[in-house]
Amino acid sequence: MVSPSENSSHGFYASTPIYYVNAKPHLGHAYTTIVGDALVRWHRLMGEQVHFLTGTDEHGLKIQQAADAVGMAPQEFADSIAPLFADAWKKLNISNDDFIRTTEPRHRAGVQKLLQACYDNGDIELDKYSGLYCVPCEAYFTEDDLVEGNCPIHKKPVEHVEEENYFFRLSRYGDRLLQWYADHPSSIVPDYRMNEVIGFIKQGLLDFSVSRTSFSWGIPLPWDDKHITYVWFDALANYITAIGYGTDDVNFNKHWPVDYHLIGKDIIRFHCVYWPAMLMSAGIEPPKGWAVGGWLLVGGEKMSKTTGNVVNPLDLIDDIGLDGFRYYVIAETPYGADGDFTYEGLIGRYNSDLANNLGNLLSRVATVVGKKCNGIAPAPRADSPLATAAAEAVAETMARWADVQPSRALEATWQLIRATNAHLENNEPWKAEPGPDLDAVMGDALEALRIVCILASPAIPDTMQTIWERIGMPGQVSDQRVPTSVTWGGYPGGATIDKGEPLFPRRKLD
Ligand code: MSP
Repeated sequence: MVSPSENSSHGFYASTPIYYVNAKPHLGHAYTTIVGDALVRWHRLMGEQVHFLTGTDEHGLKIQQAADAVGMAPQEFADSIAPLFADAWKKLNISNDDFIRTTEPRHRAGVQKLLQACYDNGDIELDKYSGLYCVPCEAYFTEDDLVEGNCPIHKKPVEHVEEENYFFRLSRYGDRLLQWYADHPSSIVPDYRMNEVIGFIKQGLLDFSVSRTSFSWGIPLPWDDKHITYVWFDALANYITAIGYGTDDVNFNKHWPVDYHLIGKDIIRFHCVYWPAMLMSAGIEPPKGWAVGGWLLVGGEKMSKTTGNVVNPLDLIDDIGLDGFRYYVIAETPYGADGDFTYEGLIGRYNSDLANNLGNLLSRVATVVGKKCNGIAPAPRADSPLATAAAEAVAETMARWADVQPSRALEATWQLIRATNAHLENNEPWKAEPGPDLDAVMGDALEALRIVCILASPAIPDTMQTIWERIGMPGQVSDQRVPTSVTWGGYPGGATIDKGEPLFPRRKLD
């Protein structure tokens, strides 16, 4: 076994968006965070030194207004909500290495350094702004962006604002951004999102304001403390401040540039246009990649307090179990497309993929080995008919994780589960006499299960550890390495098989 540090040829840094503290963690937040978690767990299996960042976005008018509404000071308000996110991620088994809050001193130091670098480079200048603003988006719109006079995202009226602000000269960066994307054509996944970004840049970029004077909940500009930093400039910087920009250069250089920013499709403009331009201005390399997800809708709508369709992920794990929920979230929707959460869909997928396919395979194997092999596992055959199915599943699973298509990666892994169930159905070991033929069939099935445990562990780590132990494998499944540990023939045989309780009892729709 290779420990991560021995095989740390390179690191893998991934981030989720930082979530606004005006809402409690909901299914939409959990979606991006769970997909990100599975992705980084896969990269740990690949032996990479992973750094996984999440956190909370705590400044700006939207948070100030939310705090005012409940009669709290904004800091006190943020302090009351941020732990709800940290706790939810613990309960969802999220393996983040850090959690950044934008009200932390390390963040403030880095934001001010970034602003100063852009300012010193001549890209931030004082100007007058007059235009349209949506507070829930914390974003400016042009007349053309509006849908029936309303914000295109929130479908609510925008505000006319007039301010003297500092502006970031985004208009200077159009050509440089286009060139950068031409040189890095695979940096945005799924690839169809790239066209959207290029189209937006080609329309012509407008400068954007990076400061505010009308309220005070934010980070002061280092050269003019009458102004506070625009919340998106502040928020985007979290990806570098958390790893040490402005406070710890060694750590910053170790992790940057990020491999993937996981984001929702609604914040692509900020991440794929504003952010690389800000970085270029400050002399910092742009991100290596962006993985853009769709929305998980509920009844065809984005979750929101106003429509009253907010789904709490913690209620769902109480109901279907942690890994039942994680599996559903990752497997149900191809990353990039919108998904629609339904309770029927959750139960249906649980029953078909987890109870029937996976749970059934484990219970059949454990039952037959218990009855006909005295509970002692036979070894697999080197020339098993399942070896090809396993090799194909491994190759396809690896390729789909590399494209950041976790649902397809799981589909590929489940092909091996299906092939193994078919292998049992063809050989009917439950009818066969004990002996070498039966041993061979069961050894093959156990080896396939061992490989499945490793391949599916990023999505459903706890369950896969349990199966790993039940089939008598020592240590942690998370310490295995891809591809070395998933080549056919690694199952030793001779271990005692523990049948245990059903892992995924079938569920009825109640
Ligand atoms: N604070 C900003 C992000 C700053 S990142 C530098 C923000 N926060 S948010 O909490 O409103 O949303 C964060 C992310 O959650 C966005 O990517 C958004 O797409 C995602 N989701 C919020 N609701 C969602 C769904 N219903 N479905 C899937 N993701 C959605 O924007």
